[in-house]
Amino acid sequence: MKFSLNVDHVATVRNARGENQPDPVTFALMAEKFGVDGIVVHLREDRRHINERDVRLLRELLKTKLDLEMAAVDEIIEIARDVQPDLATLVPEKRQELTTESGINVIDNVEHYRDAIKTLHEADVPVSLFIEPDLAQIDAAAEINTDFIEIHTGIFANAESEDEMFEELDRIRVAARHAKKLGLGVNAGHGLNYVNIKEFLSIQEIDELSIGHAVISHALFVGLERAVKEMLLLIEKYHGAAKRDF
Ligand code: PXP
Repeated sequence: MKFSLNVDHVATVRNARGENQPDPVTFALMAEKFGVDGIVVHLREDRRHINERDVRLLRELLKTKLDLEMAAVDEIIEIARDVQPDLATLVPEKRQELTTESGINVIDNVEHYRDAIKTLHEADVPVSLFIEPDLAQIDAAAEINTDFIEIHTGIFANAESEDEMFEELDRIRVAARHAKKLGLGVNAGHGLNYVNIKEFLSIQEIDELSIGHAVISHALFVGLERAVKEMLLLIEKYHGAAKRDF
């Protein structure tokens, strides 16, 4: 299972002062050196953290992979077509939200996402759709030719009881298996951290984790190298090691 680091919040700190430090691009290059499999950035319409300069420099300098998170809107689609990230992860975006709150409702917006995927594919950009672990949404995503899905893990991460957590974990496991059977790549992310990742890693079918806030927060205390390596060690130790029988 691979681990891509989301560096949006390095840009959040930079933008707090409107100056150049800390630079998310330098941070991403160091994270690569410490072993992450890719870098994720969300180019929001309001540019609250990552900006176009960051995306273009990352495209030029990264040796691993660039996953560009984005809303399916014309302006950002044009940038993605030009920059050609290794993956465009489409997310629903609301201006007022603190972070992405839920998955895309593909079923209710089939034509919109079909067109967005087609336009990105025409520029040779593979596409992932950020969706809930819901079989009907996955079927709809496959139907419109997405290459990957990214399963929203927010409900799992925010579960208020063990029962709720394991119930959601099962839902994610079934969803991931279903998506794999349909031939889709399966990523997952949102709210994953050094504690909840241990149970999460019992799911075999996920190709890649997209983790940001927990690792960036930990890096403030222990440094980026240790923060990245601790996560990589957990992945190595717990992947496939289910504590329960499923
Ligand atoms: N995946 C998607 C689609 C997201 O929007 C985010 C948040 O930027 C993440 C993964 C990473 O979430 P977190 O920062 O909670 O690890």
